[in-house]
Amino acid sequence: MTDKIPLLIDTDPGVDDALALLIAFNDPRHRVVGLTIAAGNVGLQHTVRNALKLCEVAGVDVPVFAGCPGPLLHPAPDAGYVHGQDGFGDVGYEPPARRAEAEHAAQAIIRLSHEHAGRLLLVALGPLTNVALALKLDPTLPQRVARLVVMGGAVTGHGNITPAAEFNVYFDPEAAHIVFEAFPQVDLADWEATIAHGLLHDHVVQWLQADSDRARFYERISRKTREWSADRRGDYWHSADALGMGFALQPEGVVEEASRPLAVDLGHGPARGMTVVDWQCQSGHPDRFRILLRYDQARFEQIIRDALAAR
Ligand code: BDR
Ligand code: CA
Repeated sequence: MTDKIPLLIDTDPGVDDALALLIAFNDPRHRVVGLTIAAGNVGLQHTVRNALKLCEVAGVDVPVFAGCPGPLLHPAPDAGYVHGQDGFGDVGYEPPARRAEAEHAAQAIIRLSHEHAGRLLLVALGPLTNVALALKLDPTLPQRVARLVVMGGAVTGHGNITPAAEFNVYFDPEAAHIVFEAFPQVDLADWEATIAHGLLHDHVVQWLQADSDRARFYERISRKTREWSADRRGDYWHSADALGMGFALQPEGVVEEASRPLAVDLGHGPARGMTVVDWQCQSGHPDRFRILLRYDQARFEQIIRDALAAR
């Protein structure tokens, strides 16, 4: 038995997912009990392989469960142009030795929720397809999850994949809707909070010179996306999933938050996948979304440096 908080991560690695996973593996107060893998940033065969590879590099033996190969209902484009066609910067890394478990990600979510009932921290860093499927298989899932943290959404409609929508929610809006309706509380780290917590490229480059396998590997796989980002967004790099993980593991770093109702646009017009927040409390719906607005920047940067074993 351990006192550490059991942590289950649903993820679509992805360069920023990789940093979030390194943060989670490094955290002394949590124990990662599984990685359930979604399609999103790139196809499932890549996201599964990337998760396995990252575990190998980090020296952790966490079980990896492959999930759904695409969104619940409607196909959506991936983000290979940001993360590399293989999701890890196309560096041609040696294939991982280990394979994914036979159990489906959705089944694993349900099983692990029973094994860690009342204590489980569930952190979702990708499209919510697997969690939505788990809910369809077992609608009692939220009763056993102590806390759900989601990286997703754009809470004032300043999206990254469309003018209104953020990538994770846009990729599978129906799944996001199912998950957001089912959980009594959702802790949300959105794209706009990500933009407000940029990391200076010059600092990141320094941290990545750390004398650790993790930093060396991360320097390679993140190079392409850091260059892409510097070109488009200037001096600051943005790591959405790392911020979501910081919020999940060290909630004491929250400086400002707001609780509001939120709904996902499921139409097929320009607002598809938009997370519509009832900022003025007009709907009369409960304030079920705890929205991260500001996080202690110094703490965030320290979390990343620790994860890379950088000074
Ligand atoms: C989210 O979309 C993905 O591309 C990233 O991994 C992150 O989870 C940011 O919008
Ligand atoms: Ca992600």
